[in-house]
Amino acid sequence: MADIEKHLLQTLDRDAVIEDSESFASTSGYDHKAVVSSIKSLQSYEMIAAEEKSHSRFVLTAEGKDVCENGSAEFRVHGEVKRHEGGISMKQLQDALGKDVVKIGFPPAKKLGWVSMEKSSTGEQMLMSKAAEVPDVTRELLEQIYKGQEVSKADADALKKRQQITPESWKTYKLSKGTKFALEKKKPATDLTHEMLKDGSWRTADFKAYNFNALGQPTAGGYLHPLLKVRAQMRKIFTNMGFEEMPTNNYVESSFWNFDALFQPQQHPARDAHDTFFLTRPAASPLSRQPQDYVQRVRQTHERGGYGSTGYGSHWKVSEAEKNLLRTHTTAVSSRMLYRLAQQGFKPSKYFSIDRVFRNEAIDRTHLAEFHQIEGVVCDKGLTLGDLIGILHLFFQRLGMKKLRFKPAFNPYTEPSMEIFAYSEQLHKWIEVGNSGMFRPEMLRPMGLPEDVNVIAWGLGLERPTMILYNIDNIRDLFGHKVSLSVVKKNPICRLNMQNTD
Ligand code: PHE
Repeated sequence: MADIEKHLLQTLDRDAVIEDSESFASTSGYDHKAVVSSIKSLQSYEMIAAEEKSHSRFVLTAEGKDVCENGSAEFRVHGEVKRHEGGISMKQLQDALGKDVVKIGFPPAKKLGWVSMEKSSTGEQMLMSKAAEVPDVTRELLEQIYKGQEVSKADADALKKRQQITPESWKTYKLSKGTKFALEKKKPATDLTHEMLKDGSWRTADFKAYNFNALGQPTAGGYLHPLLKVRAQMRKIFTNMGFEEMPTNNYVESSFWNFDALFQPQQHPARDAHDTFFLTRPAASPLSRQPQDYVQRVRQTHERGGYGSTGYGSHWKVSEAEKNLLRTHTTAVSSRMLYRLAQQGFKPSKYFSIDRVFRNEAIDRTHLAEFHQIEGVVCDKGLTLGDLIGILHLFFQRLGMKKLRFKPAFNPYTEPSMEIFAYSEQLHKWIEVGNSGMFRPEMLRPMGLPEDVNVIAWGLGLERPTMILYNIDNIRDLFGHKVSLSVVKKNPICRLNMQNTD
């Protein structure tokens, strides 16, 4: 390519024009196509000017080439018939030349008067030769075309009709020097650089023209992570059901709201550094900043009970309740919200949240030390376990999970408690999808909620349904430093198999 370009430029420098690119190619031993691509490139730099010339000609088809080699079908039919002085039957002729040749060659041979069909002495139909010597005009014409000689339009049309020749068109170029002619191709500058400005070379530099039709680079930002997409759908479900979102912007929580307010005993193993991330700085949130009457009621309920409960019967330590931690569940947010509701004066309420929680867990393909919880809370007078089961059915139905099963479970803050299992149509099995229950009076009454008010609540992980929806089997491919950015860029929108139950 570079050689051809150089050769073209040198020739133009010497002769000023190249009359015909094709003859330039053949005398120099280049393929004309390669010369054309060099011409295009030099032309785009305005180093040469090219005047296009269109040409067309006929070339032989495979059948045309066969005629050139073996003679036309009519010529061969006549030749074969002539070899048999007493004539030849059609069948013999076909056996000798093949059916196709006979089919093509017999009609013209007959029409030209070279052969005829006659009754022999034995009464059989025989083909007889009627001419001693015949010219093979078709072959001669094809040979002329092959050599590039002109034939009449009528002859060319006839050969084309017989599919022995086909038209071919191509272009050649007459070349002359362009406005930016030079012997060397100089790459024009694509950027105005600091150096160019400093040394003044920008004044004479050749800049590449802008290509306003070029597509821009795809932007590298602004993609939503699958977890965010599923979260957006979950939000929609909750808000459609009339739930209000709880403020979850405090990852750091005191043990008081995360555990004590929920009637979780201070000796509970979950309150151990093996399970919970405690903060070293600041290590504690002074309880004196919390509402004192409430703190006293919480202490009393833990130590001595009340509201029909005997309590835990052990000493409740302020220092334990003051410890700061990374919240282990979003139920810490629910406890703050329910306390606030009680202070503002009870009214039936529905809350939800979807946000991050932290647990000091060994990380494996299904567990992370930080993950997302989806939490729903319904607060009203006279709610029963039946309401809890009913609302869970409504909620999960909207996620596309129609079949649910419940299993009795234990939570320090709910009684009764139920684990929730759903039948996954995608995985064809029952999977655990969440935990639920009715908050205990030991949690609600100290807050100041009326005795006849019940609160039903449930929680589930965001990661598990996201992994099922997006076919991800290792949680580390979904979240954390090993996540592939291309997965984040290319994942599809979240489509839950939502049911309209209204
Ligand atoms: N907080 C529980 C958990 O972390 C979930 C839950 C929420 C259970 C509300 C009952 C009621 O697993």
